[in-house]
This record gives sequence, C-alpha cells and structure tokens, in this order.
Amino acid sequence: MDHRHTENFYAIVSPGLENVCATELTALEITPQEVDVGGISFTGRLRDLYRANLWLRSASRVLVRFAEFRSRDFPDLYRRAKRLPWGRFIRPEAAISFRVTCHSSRLNHTTRVAEALESALNQALGRSTNPVSKKPQLILVRIVDDQVTLSIDSSGELLHRRGYRQSVTVAPLRETLAAGVLMLLGWNGTVPLTDPMCGSGSFLTEGALLARQQAPGLNRSFAFIAWPGYRDGLWKLLCDEARRGEVDLSMAISGADENPKAVASAKENCQRCGVVDQVVIDQRPLSEQPVHDNQGLLVCNPPYGKRLDLGENPEFHYSELGQQLQRSYPGWQLAMICSDPKLVKATGLPFKKIASLDNGGLRVGLFTTKF
Ligand SMILES: C[S@@+](CC[C@H](N)C(=O)[O-])C[C@H]1O[C@@H](n2cnc3c(N)ncnc32)[C@H](O)[C@@H]1O
Repeated sequence: MDHRHTENFYAIVSPGLENVCATELTALEITPQEVDVGGISFTGRLRDLYRANLWLRSASRVLVRFAEFRSRDFPDLYRRAKRLPWGRFIRPEAAISFRVTCHSSRLNHTTRVAEALESALNQALGRSTNPVSKKPQLILVRIVDDQVTLSIDSSGELLHRRGYRQSVTVAPLRETLAAGVLMLLGWNGTVPLTDPMCGSGSFLTEGALLARQQAPGLNRSFAFIAWPGYRDGLWKLLCDEARRGEVDLSMAISGADENPKAVASAKENCQRCGVVDQVVIDQRPLSEQPVHDNQGLLVCNPPYGKRLDLGENPEFHYSELGQQLQRSYPGWQLAMICSDPKLVKATGLPFKKIASLDNGGLRVGLFTTKF
C-alpha cells in the first residue's frame, strides 16, 4: 500500500460499540463516514491505518476496502480478480486465507468463490500455489446483491489481544468490550475506578491503559507489518509519539474477587500491563468488602447464571448483591453488564440500561445508576 494514497478503511466493532468507536476515530482526527451495525467506514492514508490499529480500544479489526465490483459468474469473478493489484498487500511468499459471505447473489457458493479468488491471486502474484503458514493474510469477501467487496485485514490477530493478557479465568471479557464499556460510561481516569468482582481484571487493565493514555496496540504485532509497502520508520515514529504522550495514573484503580485464582490472574495481567504497584487487588467476597467512603465508578460483570452457576435462586443472589454494593460503595456510580434484566431488577438498585452489547455471542445490557 502506497503511503500517499487515500484509501477506504473499515473498522469492525462488536455490536453496541459503534458510536464509541466513531468517537475514538474522531479523537484521532479521522472522520467516520458511515456507522453501520458492526462497523464504521472511514478514509485516510497509511498513517491513519497505522494509528487506527495502534489506538482504537473498541475495534476488533481494521480492514482496507481493497476492491468493489459487480459480478454474477465465476469466469467473470476470476477475470476481474486477476487484474487487481494484490501485490500491494501480499508478498509472493505470503500465505492467504479467505473468509467469504454471500447473500442474495448469483455467486453463492462460498468455497468456490474462495477458490476462484485464490487462483486469480496466485496468477496475479506469479505463483502456482498458496503457501501454508500459521499466520496467513486474511482476505474478507462479502457478496451482497451481486456486489463483491474485497477487504484486506490489516490487524492480524484480533485487536482485543493487546499482548498483556496471558492469564484468564472463567468467562473473561474481551478487552475491546471492557474498554468500550468504560468509554460508554464516560470514564476517563478523573475519578476512582473499582471492580469488586474483577475476575482476570479486564476493567482494571483497560482502565489503567485508558487513564495512562497508553496506546493499546503498542505491545503487539499487526498483519500490515508483513505487507510489501510496510513503512517501519513511520510505524516506529507513531509508537514513539504514543509512548511520549503517556501520563501517570492519577486516580485509584482497585479490584477484588472472592476467587484466589482470579486474584492471581488479575495481578499477573496488571503486572504485564506495568501497573501492578498502582492497582490494589483484594481477595475478598463482596459481603466482606469494607465501606469505601470515597466516590467514583464501580463497574462489574457478575456471574449471570449462563456460563457461571448461580444456584437455585439467582434473583436472591442478585438481591444480596444489590444490598452489598449499596453497603460497601455508598455514593458511587454503579454499573454492571448482565444478560438478564430480571436479575438487574432484583438488585433493587435504580439501574437503567444504556446499551445493548455482545459478550462473546451472548446479548448483554449495560446498566448504570447514573446516566
Ligand atoms: C464473569 S466473571 C468476571 C470476569 C471479568 N470481568 C474478566 O474480564 O475476567 C465473575 C467474577 O465474579 C466473581 N464473584 C462471584 N461472586 C462474587 C462475590 N460474591 N464476591 C466477589 N467476587 C465474586 C467470580 O469469582 C468471577 O471471577
């Protein structure tokens, strides 16, 4: 990809985080174009693509919209695809993989579409086969009403893999969702943050990255690094700029969990994130947590009874949880994500739903007491 060209890009986001991601793009001085369910289109240059990957906390991937054309049969698809400048993104020795979806189109056989595109691409690159490798370049193909859209994934591993979390407990949140929730709640590090049921500590580590204004992509690799037009100098410059802009944590971030394994895992993740000395994590059930007479944002992701067992009477469990939250965190803004509004109601707290989100395929609401 040439760094002077303006290209079409697309950030994929988990449903419910689109507006948060659009706001993130705007903060990067990139103008979002269309905000769809699950993604946002924008234009920019190579620098913007690098910055989007480096900085977006809520996006899952960033794509380059490589080509768009109408096609209704395989010989035509092959002919058109063969003429595309694949070599801008794919080295002759690089392995590729396709992810194809087809709707209401003559071309509706996803495997055959991938095969036709693969042979066209191999022809265009002057090679006879697609090499096999563990980290192939992903190409996304969408065919809707005979309109073919080809996109090249620039991220590689999904962006929630920041590189700091090695240790997880049961039902961890994706980092992109944890960061998205904090941004939906408007938390920006100017008041204390706590999660009294922190599991592996996603809210704590994402909160620390946010408050430190630390770019979430600094400690990982990206697919674009293997592209022929990769500009190492530009990437390093953007990373150096990001490191220079980091600030110290000025507000307390704390967590607790009744499970010793969860506490060990949260501490390990804070350690990798470089904030283990600043984030206090207690092994304690909510019922034994002290009264916190300061104020701030409490956010939690209690067990919903879907993936974690809540016993015979989940409503009773949530009513106790409500009382314990009120007792230990008076005056705090309370927020939780939960898949079942009945359980949220059972807390007896004045929660209101402010967003519908997707937690690993499970529809959940974000509820808060201040809005
Ligand atoms: C769904 S997990 C939280 C996952 C976490 N958000 C993450 O990203 O890893 C729920 C956590 O609540 C903890 N938990 C459940 N009941 C608790 C209680 N009464 N007091 C403290 N922790 C509790 C569990 O040990 C578990 O780690």
